[in-house]
Amino acid sequence: MSTQPEHPTLLIPGPIEFDDAVLQSMGHFSQSHVGAPFVATFGETLSMLRKLFQTDDPASQPFVISGSGTLGWDLVSANLAEPGDDVLVLHAGYFADSFADCLQTYGAKPTQLKAPIGSTPQLPEIEKALKERKYKLLTITHVDTSTGVLTDLKPISELVHRVSPETLVIVDGVCSVGSEEIEFDKWQLDGVITASQKGVGCPAGLSISMFSGRAIKTFQNRKTPPASYFASFKNWLPIMQNYEAKKPSYFATPSPQLIHALHTSLTQILSRPLSERFAAHREASQKVKKAVADLGLKQVAPNPAEQANGMTAIYLPENVTVPVLLPNLLKKGVIFAGGLHKEIATKYIRFGHMGVSVTDPKRDDIGRAIEVLKSGLSDAGHQKA
Ligand SMILES: Cc1ncc(COP(=O)(O)O)c(C=O)c1O
Repeated sequence: MSTQPEHPTLLIPGPIEFDDAVLQSMGHFSQSHVGAPFVATFGETLSMLRKLFQTDDPASQPFVISGSGTLGWDLVSANLAEPGDDVLVLHAGYFADSFADCLQTYGAKPTQLKAPIGSTPQLPEIEKALKERKYKLLTITHVDTSTGVLTDLKPISELVHRVSPETLVIVDGVCSVGSEEIEFDKWQLDGVITASQKGVGCPAGLSISMFSGRAIKTFQNRKTPPASYFASFKNWLPIMQNYEAKKPSYFATPSPQLIHALHTSLTQILSRPLSERFAAHREASQKVKKAVADLGLKQVAPNPAEQANGMTAIYLPENVTVPVLLPNLLKKGVIFAGGLHKEIATKYIRFGHMGVSVTDPKRDDIGRAIEVLKSGLSDAGHQKA
């Protein structure tokens, strides 16, 4: 039995439902951020992140900084690109626009390679773009939360290493880390940024990232200093290295309670093989996607190879609107999200299926949500429901 007060099940693509133990970690008594017990917790948390990202290269560098996923864009833009550097931004929805905006804020020159809504840029066009210009970075939104489109990282990284080996491969994994397979070393990634509130299963408030030795060297070889104080690797790199070496260190005060929550959630995630976790997400996703098809509905991402495993974006039938459907689903106990991609926002809803809602056998969040969706659509007059 959960110790949480009864509440509607939150099945949006982040924040997600929390495990009781993760939530209880937020109630940890106050600790000094430079005292030995907290430094040990922070150090272990960083080491566990290496396992989650599947890197055992000692040159890889994890960062955990107070902030949200957006701070990851600032880390990349402030530290790895210099003013005037070209960046190729692969666009599969809303979040690439924001990443490009952030890069531009720091003076980089993003070029967006845009796919039709519901799809992702294809290898031949990426290859063509890489051959036309020298890009300092290539960015990929692993799962675009506005469309539920999954971009396969491995072949893109292989392509970059073959065609433009100096280009750093940077992944926005805010909606994928913890729910989609990521092999940082094997796929030769240079940066993956994420946040605490989605597949990692922790309350919002932490920017979590992993950068390769190559990315750190790129930072160290900069000609100009980073144009950010809070997001500067110069300030955070020694702190992260010291924490992992269990040495007290200070740049800006971390949140001990959030770090405890992340420590608990990572301990839980790593207590079972990661392959099982990803398989559970694939299985839940297939169940949702089959129910959507049985209801006669279409996904925003039509190609199964480009469909995320932690969320599904579902077009509504012609006669059903978001402002009618979502409040009724809430009354029935489940919270889904509305559309986000501005060109189609009124036409679809988003169903998040990540973390404990998928992995905890004591819950039946997904099965229940499917029944609630069917019943809500039927109330709205959809025939197939
Ligand atoms: C793919 C992606 N990138 C970046 C962000 C920004 O993260 P945050 O809202 O935590 O700042 C989000 C937020 O949902 C996201 O889904």
